[in-house]
Amino acid sequence: MSRLKVAILFGGPSEEHDVSVQSARSVMQACKGTFDVLPVFVSKQGSVWPEDASRRVLEGAPNGLDPEDAETLLDGLTDLAAAGVDAVFPVLHGPFGEDGRLQAVLEAAGLPYVGSGVLGSAVSMDKITTKRVLQAVGVPQTPWREVRAADWQHDAEAVLEDLTVSFEGPWFVKPSNLGSSVGIGKAHDAGSLAEAIRDAFRYDRRVLVERAVDGRELEIGMLGTQPARASVIGEIVVGGDGFYDYSAKYQDGSTTLQVPAEVDPQVAERLTALAHTAYAAVDAAGLARVDFFVTQDGDILLNEINTLPGFTDVSMYPRLWEASGVAYPDLVAALIQDALTKRSQS
Ligand SMILES: Nc1ncnc2c1ncn2[C@@H]1O[C@H](COP(=O)(O)OP(=O)(O)O)[C@@H](O)[C@H]1O
Ligand SMILES: [Mg+2]
Repeated sequence: MSRLKVAILFGGPSEEHDVSVQSARSVMQACKGTFDVLPVFVSKQGSVWPEDASRRVLEGAPNGLDPEDAETLLDGLTDLAAAGVDAVFPVLHGPFGEDGRLQAVLEAAGLPYVGSGVLGSAVSMDKITTKRVLQAVGVPQTPWREVRAADWQHDAEAVLEDLTVSFEGPWFVKPSNLGSSVGIGKAHDAGSLAEAIRDAFRYDRRVLVERAVDGRELEIGMLGTQPARASVIGEIVVGGDGFYDYSAKYQDGSTTLQVPAEVDPQVAERLTALAHTAYAAVDAAGLARVDFFVTQDGDILLNEINTLPGFTDVSMYPRLWEASGVAYPDLVAALIQDALTKRSQS
């Protein structure tokens, strides 16, 4: 039997561009010997680079300027369908790659792809919409409020008043539709809350304000589509002042991952059940990492769902599956299989 041909999309116009390149290197390596791989670099401007140039990026070449033979996204992806690509693995984190826009283009090009579809991706990328959907199915979360730019501009004092009487601080303030902790702030009083909200409005016209949780950060990996499997639970152990920001996540090494985490069996069971409920409620598919807080009292609060979690071989999601008995190359193969199965069912 001839090998399946898999296109690996990486890069992309988000803050997580560089993480994506790293993840793609790991995925490429894992595919060796099993799949025919076609690396497809998506530039920061959103165009698709030809194979040679894409390979050079994986080897560390500069990735700034589009070459002359770069194509627009839809043309580039339609070419992939014509080139006999069987499935696409979009290793693109954050806005554009993870929020449904790329998925819509892949649908239009008629290509099966790994991960959630347009709806599941869009819902999960938008923190406020995720909260609403999860509330509807009874998944516990920290108290939260939506702040819209128009209301803020109209009467910021009234908005602040409403927030501070709704629930106590400290507060976390987040642009609704972004990742990698960009634009996220923590506030301890009304003055810094206003400042954090103003800052978050630089990135989005909808801002989420929620109560800070004093608890552990536990994460679980979901794999597959109806039925999905859940991995063991992992923990993010943050050094320093306890805010898991962009540099702590990706750069300064102050964070360690504990896999599997030490968790009370009853908490683990409840957390796993909630992860299944959340995954289905947002219509996620293929894979997701579901992130929780667990307080000292054992309260479990869902924080967010990532439909394209970090995917380097040392990232949390692959490590969760490794500890659950699925080695990295098998994980990649299972995801590609899931993409093909979904296609044949739709
Ligand atoms: N309500 C909260 N209480 C305590 N810590 C929080 C809260 N919200 C976010 N954080 C901290 O900020 C980090 C980033 O927030 P998160 O909502 O996960 O955004 P991102 O999409 O950038 O990952 C979390 O991993 C956690 O460390
Ligand atoms: Mg997060």
